[in-house]
Amino acid sequence: MEKLENRKSQTSFRSLFCLNKLKVRTQVLIIQVLIQFSVGTLLTLISYLSFQYIIDRYSNISLECYVLQYYKKTDMISYLQVRSSQEVLLRSQTHLLKSDFLYQFIQSIELQYVQQPLDCLNYDDKYDKYQYEQTFCYGFFGDKVYPLTNQDILAMNYSSFLTQILPIMDMDLDLLFSTIGDQMYFSIWPGDPFPNYKPHRRIWYTNHLKQIEDKNYNLTYFSDPYIVWTWFLFMVTQTRNMTNLNGQIDGVFGSDLNFSLFKTLSQKQENVTFSIIDKKGQFLLSQFNISQDTYIYDTEKSGFNKEDFEQINNSLYKKQFINNCSRIDQLLNNERLCRYNTVANTEELIVAKFLYPTDLILLMQQI
Ligand SMILES: *[C@@H]1O[C@H](CO)[C@@H](O)[C@H](O)[C@H]1NC(C)=O
Ligand SMILES: *[C@@H]1O[C@H](CO)[C@@H](O)[C@H](O)[C@H]1NC(C)=O
Ligand SMILES: *[C@@H]1O[C@H](CO)[C@@H](O)[C@H](O)[C@H]1NC(C)=O
Ligand SMILES: *[C@@H]1O[C@H](CO)[C@@H](O)[C@H](O)[C@H]1NC(C)=O
Ligand SMILES: *[C@@H]1O[C@H](CO)[C@@H](O)[C@H](O)[C@H]1NC(C)=O
Ligand SMILES: *[C@@H]1O[C@H](CO)[C@@H](O)[C@H](O)[C@H]1NC(C)=O
Ligand SMILES: *[C@@H]1O[C@H](CO)[C@@H](O)[C@H](O)[C@H]1NC(C)=O
Ligand SMILES: *[C@@H]1O[C@H](CO)[C@@H](O)[C@H](O)[C@H]1NC(C)=O
Ligand SMILES: *[C@@H]1O[C@H](CO)[C@@H](O)[C@H](O)[C@H]1NC(C)=O
Repeated sequence: MEKLENRKSQTSFRSLFCLNKLKVRTQVLIIQVLIQFSVGTLLTLISYLSFQYIIDRYSNISLECYVLQYYKKTDMISYLQVRSSQEVLLRSQTHLLKSDFLYQFIQSIELQYVQQPLDCLNYDDKYDKYQYEQTFCYGFFGDKVYPLTNQDILAMNYSSFLTQILPIMDMDLDLLFSTIGDQMYFSIWPGDPFPNYKPHRRIWYTNHLKQIEDKNYNLTYFSDPYIVWTWFLFMVTQTRNMTNLNGQIDGVFGSDLNFSLFKTLSQKQENVTFSIIDKKGQFLLSQFNISQDTYIYDTEKSGFNKEDFEQINNSLYKKQFINNCSRIDQLLNNERLCRYNTVANTEELIVAKFLYPTDLILLMQQI
């Protein structure tokens, strides 16, 4: 029974290919050709697959090398940038500290002021560049003229004193101060004409008093960023109390932060951009074209949203973060933060670092 069925199927198989009509020799030949054909196909397929595997493997390896190389570069650049930004912050802190100390110093001893300070801030054309560079200019910017108080005279003495010691001060010094009183005594070096300037209405001044009101007892504060229209610069000022001998506040010292390195680093070639943001995500400085009151999660400006900021914050605090990049993510186990930027339309590698001793954050984006 079984045999019979077997033969039947053989017969039908042969009849299917019409083999039964051919000679045995021809049949063998055809079967040989068929076998050779399928073996050939199999071999081709195998070699193709292994070739593909090798390509895959090597492209994985070279991509991995590339990514590692890329990370190394990113680390180096961000390290340098963090260091130089910290240097700027520290230098300005030191200036403020020194200035506050010197203000108390001149109150504690009798000094003769050889050079009287120049009222050169209120005039457009009376003074030349030399005067602005050689003296701490001052101006009274109160709404009306008041009789001079002791505090005003002390402030003028201080401008004289600073002018006299300018040659032994750090020439990178960038210092301004304003007294608290109605006179609005304001002094700055290097100077420039400041007609109609109202120090008490400037962000650095109002922010400083606001911080005191909020009982933030830090030694220095950072103002919100503002645009210096004369230079089209985005600026942050670090501020500090101008303390009298009784420990009370006579005025506010400010030092503009000059992160000029932001500009000198040829970021365009490296496809890297730097920003400094605060803990709330507000931009203080950026290489992007941003205006005042811009936050990292203002999507149409930065290309990031709240979720991206949350992940940046996580990476900053060395907590678990979520990548959303297609390629880099699969390699190297999620070690780096990479997010999709909807403005740049690319996946960006993001490095966020605290600028100790402040709690400002340096942000580096690399495509
Ligand atoms: C190449 O990398 C991808 C993604 O990590 C992985 O799925 C694939 O198995 C890797 N291929 C080889 C040959 O290692
Ligand atoms: C200002 O300096 C003069 C000396 O040049 C001194 O006589 C005067 O007491 C000083 N005034 C204040 C308020 O420090
Ligand atoms: C003072 O500064 C430190 C870091 O410099 C910061 O962590 C802290 O929040 C600041 N204090 C206040 C009240 O803002
Ligand atoms: C700054 O001055 C205010 C007002 O006198 C005072 O409350 C605050 O403690 C001072 N801050 C520092 C750091 O001395
Ligand atoms: C910033 O500093 C650089 C040198 O460090 C200087 O050339 C530049 O003029 C400064 N810019 C401002 C606005 O102070
Ligand atoms: C920068 O990005 C552009 C466009 O994505 C690319 O063509 C260029 O090679 C990149 N430059 C570097 C130095 O990576
Ligand atoms: C920066 O943005 C403002 C508007 O937000 C625009 O007017 C200005 O042209 C932009 N500047 C550059 C250099 O793109
Ligand atoms: C960032 O993370 C820290 C630590 O987890 C948290 O305390 C802080 O509130 C977070 N900041 C924002 C803006 O989410
Ligand atoms: C990352 O997020 C963006 C915007 O939310 C989305 O368009 C993109 O597809 C995401 N990419 C991955 C790999 O999940």
